[in-house]
Amino acid sequence: MTNQVAIVQIRGWLQEARRVAVLTGAGISAESGIPTFRGTGGLWRNFPAEQLATPEAFARDPALVWEWYDWRRAVVAEKSPNPGHFALAEMERQHPSVTLITQNVDGLHDLAGSASPLKLHGDIWQVRCTQCDYRATNREVPLTPIPPRCSCGAVLRPDIVWFGEALPEGVLRNAWAAAQIADLFLVVGTSALVQPAASLPRLALERHARVVEINLEHTPLSRHCDISLRGASGEILPLLLGD
Ligand code: OAD
Repeated sequence: MTNQVAIVQIRGWLQEARRVAVLTGAGISAESGIPTFRGTGGLWRNFPAEQLATPEAFARDPALVWEWYDWRRAVVAEKSPNPGHFALAEMERQHPSVTLITQNVDGLHDLAGSASPLKLHGDIWQVRCTQCDYRATNREVPLTPIPPRCSCGAVLRPDIVWFGEALPEGVLRNAWAAAQIADLFLVVGTSALVQPAASLPRLALERHARVVEINLEHTPLSRHCDISLRGASGEILPLLLGD
């Protein structure tokens, strides 16, 4: 099937679908200039993310982990949503039932106008206290001091899910529910390797939803999808919308 034929097919599925779920990954923000996790360009001072984004790394050296986030926040702060983010926000407006689930922490779906994306891995603009219940939005770039502190005196941490940590329960529950009832599931710009996010399209497949993947490359999910489109999400997603 050529991409053009596939796009016509997917547009038809979107019109027929009663419930749509969309899972996005770092690939959707790549065209905004934010490096993906497993691509090149995501390294800071030669540390792989797996060595910084852990509770152990934070316990060992909170200032080092915060310096990394301070750098990432500065990178993200100057970026804007791209046509892929805007197309998904528009899809929400055109379609009665779209649930957007994202693994991204960059906040670009919010900036594009998506109403309430389910953020599986947290939000780089949120902080929370390591001791008390304090949680807040913090958009300070650069951050001072590092590490930032709560009024209770304890160190604040990024409200991000680190390797080895559980996903926020309510968010995950809502994402499972959306995958379970979707009749169309779009998987956009994710390597489909990191659990439990990668299980969501698999659940949709088990429930006989149509599953469509949009990715520059082949992924472990590709051969299971009804349609797997090779291309940039910022180019393909706008083509799926009604006029
Ligand atoms: P990855 O870096 O693993 O994968 C990005 C995917 O996007 C790859 O499959 C690329 O081929 C694809 N891609 C790149 N540019 C694209 C474009 N313009 N259009 C379409 N596809 C494109 O990122 P994720 O799958 O998001 O978790 O990674 C999942 C999780 O792994 C992240 O949320 C993070 C990381 O560990 C945590 O931080 C907990």
